[in-house]
Amino acid sequence: MNAQDKESQLPSPPPYHGHTSHPRHRNQFRKLAALAYNTLSQPRACIILLILSFTVGYLSHSQVVQPHFSEDIADLEYHNTFPTQCSDPLTSLSVRQTLLDKVFGGESPWKGFPPPQVAPLLWKRWNKGWDSNAAVFRHLIEQVQPRVIIEVGTFLGASATHMAELTQGMGLQTLIICIDDFRGWPGYYDQDKSMKMLNGDSMLLYQFMHNVDKSNATESILFLPFSTNTALSGLCEWGVYGDLIEVDAAHDFHSAWADINNAYKILRPGGVLFGHDYAWDGVRKAVHSFARLNGLRVKLDDKHWVLY
Ligand SMILES: C[S@@+](CC[C@H](N)C(=O)[O-])C[C@H]1O[C@@H](n2cnc3c(N)ncnc32)[C@H](O)[C@@H]1O
Repeated sequence: MNAQDKESQLPSPPPYHGHTSHPRHRNQFRKLAALAYNTLSQPRACIILLILSFTVGYLSHSQVVQPHFSEDIADLEYHNTFPTQCSDPLTSLSVRQTLLDKVFGGESPWKGFPPPQVAPLLWKRWNKGWDSNAAVFRHLIEQVQPRVIIEVGTFLGASATHMAELTQGMGLQTLIICIDDFRGWPGYYDQDKSMKMLNGDSMLLYQFMHNVDKSNATESILFLPFSTNTALSGLCEWGVYGDLIEVDAAHDFHSAWADINNAYKILRPGGVLFGHDYAWDGVRKAVHSFARLNGLRVKLDDKHWVLY
């Protein structure tokens, strides 16, 4: 059977409507169909086509990344929980030296403070805060008599220096650990140009250190200038626990949720976890979800929430 015979055996193309219905187009279609039929009836062409499709299939399949862990829902749930075990607790008296060693090479960060390039840029008095002198601090310090307080979110140290004043006034030997990356938040500098910027650094850390220095609290306040997640993980690893922990960093749900979970791990038994800005949706949702999952109750002290 020659090619023409084969062509005549081919089914006619469906009737065309519109501008392709010209007889010349129909002829072209027939020719193409005959060519494809002839080619496919050659065994060698079939093998080449098979190899080609296999290669294309293999290459496109190899772009799909396979996970190297179980995707079982029960296993994935595990990643949604925060591990609860931290190291054995250090004694309260050894916490300060441990932090100095781990974070500041064994020396007080206030040694030689302020550096000469920073001194002229600092405000003599600028310790802005939000409800930083609220009654909740006195209430809880009187109740718990804390030896270690951890503050998650410090800004310029308004609430930290207030707590230092209270504990000193009560004759307590309390160490206050302030956690903050001292960057503020995206857009912070645009809203508040009070601080002079130094090579892109908003100088919050230096102003905080200055405020602590001016409050005569350099012996009772230490700071961890890291993200809350990193700092709280460090404390957990080193066995540093708080008798009183205040959470007042970022207020979106996921940040508050992570901070509360991470902070609770390092709360000493009998200690109290509390925080600011209950009115924020993200904070309120994180606080109540956490309380419900852990069988705790939420009490309010003005704008602060307290977990019992
Ligand atoms: C509301 S201010 C804290 C105010 C302070 N407690 C007071 O009363 O004066 C929040 C602080 O949390 C810090 N912050 C927010 N998210 C953080 C994160 N993921 N890691 C470290 N610090 C963070 C910001 O830099 C900011 O200084």
